[in-house]
Amino acid sequence: MKIERVAVIGAGTMGNGIAHVCALGGLAVSLVDAHAGALDRGVATIERNLGRQIARGRITEGERGRALARIAGGRSLDAAARTDLAIEAVPEVEALKREIFAELDRVTPPGTILASNTSSISITSIAAATRRPEKVIGMHFMNPVPVMKLVEVIRGLRTGDATTAAVMDLARALGKTPVEARDFPGFVSNRILMPMINEAVFALMEGVAEAEGIDTVMKLGMNHPMGPLALADLIGLDTCLNILEVLHRELGDDRYRPCPLLRQYVAAGWLGRKSGRGFHRYAPPA
Ligand SMILES: NC(=O)c1ccc[n+]([C@@H]2O[C@H](COP(=O)([O-])OP(=O)(O)OC[C@H]3O[C@@H](n4cnc5c(N)ncnc54)[C@H](O)[C@@H]3O)[C@@H](O)[C@H]2O)c1
Repeated sequence: MKIERVAVIGAGTMGNGIAHVCALGGLAVSLVDAHAGALDRGVATIERNLGRQIARGRITEGERGRALARIAGGRSLDAAARTDLAIEAVPEVEALKREIFAELDRVTPPGTILASNTSSISITSIAAATRRPEKVIGMHFMNPVPVMKLVEVIRGLRTGDATTAAVMDLARALGKTPVEARDFPGFVSNRILMPMINEAVFALMEGVAEAEGIDTVMKLGMNHPMGPLALADLIGLDTCLNILEVLHRELGDDRYRPCPLLRQYVAAGWLGRKSGRGFHRYAPPA
């Protein structure tokens, strides 16, 4: 199945990046967000990030213009009708995702593939909210989407081979490297990443070192390109907390319990880069 028209649901950190790479890859994109401000911010971010790619000589002015012309914004899921693929990137809350998938199932033709960018939630469970579980799949892009090569492709219990093949092919066509994972909480990436981030937050809470020190140890000592606390700020502390809650609940093991300091920062609205403050401070969001 050839995918030519996509809808991206959610224009936040991930959604605008997914829309960016799809539009640059030649697909017609409907970018949908329930909040008008978020949609405008998402489109502005895409414009800014395409501009950066021009400055680095990766794309031309013409490619930027053509990519932007392929993106249409919308506030309702009706904008996803007549697409070959819908990629959902709303917050990491299972009830919300199930609601969106049930609605996508109603508004899109039966052949449309429904993908979730979830970091940890069961694809099998999301698929059960639809009448087409064989067409539901996880398509887990990494942040920042225009830069990162990996797409983790997650097959739910009932995901079909044709759906998997179409999504793997699309990921390659977008210049990404897809890796298949089975549908267990956190898949591969967050099963391993989130316990490390959580441990870094515990180390900070217990005063083992300052945030800067913890990040520097992991950068210079382990050769990580970013420290775990800076990475948590990039991901969004609310997203990290939601993922840890899923790992803790679904795997039933206390080693995944979210650090109280992480809960406290999220309660304070310190969500990382997107709010201007997390474990580090950032320029206020535009
Ligand atoms: N942030 C990361 O680094 C990262 C990486 C990989 C995967 N993910 C996953 O991607 C998904 C999105 O995360 P994010 O960081 O982009 O979140 P975000 O909070 O930055 O963006 C979510 C967007 O969804 C919109 N939204 C909320 N409810 C909606 C609805 N009912 N209909 C349409 N839009 C709605 C919000 O307005 C917001 O713009 C989550 O499942 C997350 O786990 C995140």
